[in-house]
Amino acid sequence: MDRVQPGHHTVRGRQRQWTGDNVSNILKEPKVDNRECLLMASPDNIASARAHSNIAFIKYWGNRNHKLRLPANSSLSMNLADLHTTTTVEWSSALTVDSLAINGSPAGETALVRVRQHLDALRRRLNTDLRARVDSTNNFPMGAGIASSASAFAALTLAAVTACGTALDERELSTMARLGSGSAARSIPPGFVEWRAGDSHESSYAETFADRDRWDLVDVIAIVSRRHKRIGSSAGHRTADSSVLQPARVESAETRLRAVKIAISERDFERFARTVEEDSNLMHAVMMTSNPPLFYWQPLSLAIMESVRHWRESDALQVCYTLDAGPNVHCICRASDAPAVAAKLRAISPEIDIVQSRVGGGATVIPVPVSYRARLRVS
Ligand code: DP6
Repeated sequence: MDRVQPGHHTVRGRQRQWTGDNVSNILKEPKVDNRECLLMASPDNIASARAHSNIAFIKYWGNRNHKLRLPANSSLSMNLADLHTTTTVEWSSALTVDSLAINGSPAGETALVRVRQHLDALRRRLNTDLRARVDSTNNFPMGAGIASSASAFAALTLAAVTACGTALDERELSTMARLGSGSAARSIPPGFVEWRAGDSHESSYAETFADRDRWDLVDVIAIVSRRHKRIGSSAGHRTADSSVLQPARVESAETRLRAVKIAISERDFERFARTVEEDSNLMHAVMMTSNPPLFYWQPLSLAIMESVRHWRESDALQVCYTLDAGPNVHCICRASDAPAVAAKLRAISPEIDIVQSRVGGGATVIPVPVSYRARLRVS
């Protein structure tokens, strides 16, 4: 197997501010020969990493810089322990192109192009021109409308960096993951995570705001539709500025961020619920008033949102809703109320499938799965 030359790894320790638009410039920094970062070196240029999906309480919608994914506002999420992506990356001089398998099958062109772009950014950062074999598996069904780009790009980033024999600190891993998918920046640190918008590549990263045992929240996801969304988040972010409501949403986001942080710190569910629902509604108001307008809610989504408010106000369940760029409703509740929430959702319609998750940890390096080596032997 090839070794990526250790002395050529570019590692942390740079504070240069950069606000331009060209990703390659920031990633071609002066090389630092930092041997301490080789602690996690893999002997054969293969490494695996696991990262969790996350659900945002304060949403990321719209970018100030699309190429660098510098968001219009700071956001805050919780990692989802029970929904994760496991990715193995193998750098090799025997490869002439990058390859990507998702859930054991070769990936389609769109996913492959996006992953190659991210690998290009990683190659510049890691100072290597080797190609990579990427094998990625989700433990949740693809196309269930549960976002996978956050866990996918977080796991890819950590696996690729580790396989190269390099260790980056959490902050830089988060900035690198952000280049692949904005929300992936939040899947690097553990627990309840804040992504500071920042104004440069280096200053836009996520970090833990509160440990996962701070609050026993559960995300009970009502799967309303399994259909692939027509307009994905990346295209959606580009339309956000066409809504007259986006400036008002962005300007007031800091206030909601503060409120949610206080609510989590004090385990104040009422304040939490009010703020999380308002933030989700505001993002969808922006989506619906953009050009072209984006309507992600379906009749069943609305029925669930109304029911959730009713359960909170009349049935004293500690539950609130939030929706991403799709019709599925994330019902965030206290762990003790999760069985009741799931039962009530099932009672609304037999069409609703349910996926649940507790608060999760951060991205971690794991042993290369036996299944990966087995797949290689048969392919
Ligand atoms: C509605 O991170 O999926 O889920 O940066 O283009 O990959 P890209 O977008 P993505 O956007 C997530 C949008 C959201 C809200 C959120 O998770 O904050």
